[in-house]
Amino acid sequence: MNARIATTGGQTGPVLEVTDLSLRRVGSTNPASLVQSVSFEVGAGECVALIGESGCGKTLTSMAVLGLLPKAIRVESGSVRLEGTEILGSSEREYARYRGNSVGAIFQDPMSSLDPTMKIGDQIAESRRIHLGESRTEGRRRAVELLERVGIANARSRLDSYPFELSGGMQQRVMIAAAIACEPAVLIADEPTTALDVTVQAGVLDLLRGLQTELGLAVLLVTHDLGVVADFSDRVAVMYAGQIVERGATRELLDELPMHPYTKALAASVAQTGRAHTVLPTIPGRVPSADEMPMGCRFQKRCPFAEPDRCGRPQEEVRLGPGRAARCVRVHEINDVEVLNRG
Ligand SMILES: Nc1ncnc2c1ncn2[C@@H]1O[C@H](COP(=O)(O)OP(=O)(O)OP(=O)(O)O)[C@@H](O)[C@H]1O
Ligand SMILES: [Mg+2]
Repeated sequence: MNARIATTGGQTGPVLEVTDLSLRRVGSTNPASLVQSVSFEVGAGECVALIGESGCGKTLTSMAVLGLLPKAIRVESGSVRLEGTEILGSSEREYARYRGNSVGAIFQDPMSSLDPTMKIGDQIAESRRIHLGESRTEGRRRAVELLERVGIANARSRLDSYPFELSGGMQQRVMIAAAIACEPAVLIADEPTTALDVTVQAGVLDLLRGLQTELGLAVLLVTHDLGVVADFSDRVAVMYAGQIVERGATRELLDELPMHPYTKALAASVAQTGRAHTVLPTIPGRVPSADEMPMGCRFQKRCPFAEPDRCGRPQEEVRLGPGRAARCVRVHEINDVEVLNRG
């Protein structure tokens, strides 16, 4: 397997680039979009984590990249570029081709992507036949290598197993093998280890990390586990109620100085409970539902720093440094105060 370097017109650029993506529920009368102006990019060999409470739009964002949005959700505007090519609004057929070739996906439930009626060797071989034009024999030979690579013992004899004959951890590994079968440039991992017990989780994460480096994969990781974020990701985008409210390098954003009030609240609760495998903590209040999304700051009702006037207006991203930004009109004053208090 060869590491891939993304090139855009001969220049190295982001492999996945999402710009100003807005999604809307069909028939919604709320003027505020469900997912609003989401932008991020992931480079070759890099992992970007998308975090935020349940219902913040992480899965919808991933699904928009994969061309798998539910019927009830439509794209309002934006751009999704894959290796420099615009793919948003592609036909079903084109999306199916991207999903096989350029973007692999793994989910919490392996059975959402594995075909229960097909032997695992055939699933991998079939995917290579469709996308790479490989023969069944060659595809099955490759399947053995892939299954070995993801840590399945006696890979050759496993080719003829059906998914239900495997344990949950093994199914997860097979799903990863299937996701990387055609050597994609991007891997989207939406809660890839949430359903697994802790020891199996660690093995699957080690596997993902190895593959990321070996294949130069651009990984978009959706997770609730801040321990996983800290260990695995290079950069973080924090999502709240359909918007990215803060982004930056993982260490800077989570360990050193979270600047958006929402990220501060997440980090403060983690500091109280300890870092290792901390599931996103609860903050008083709840994420607004699709119909309640306000036009102003979406975190306002739960925010200890809210000022009705300024926070009631739409919040622009405030740039705080290279690759660092927060969507909060008060971000400078709030953090100045913090720095003074610390000093
Ligand atoms: N098929 C759908 N029809 C209508 N609304 C939907 C649909 N799927 C998701 N939504 C709404 O979109 C919002 C974002 O959902 P999404 O699944 O992207 O959240 P999430 O951040 O992935 O949450 P979780 O951490 O629980 O997986 C939620 O308010 C949800 O109710
Ligand atoms: Mg989700």
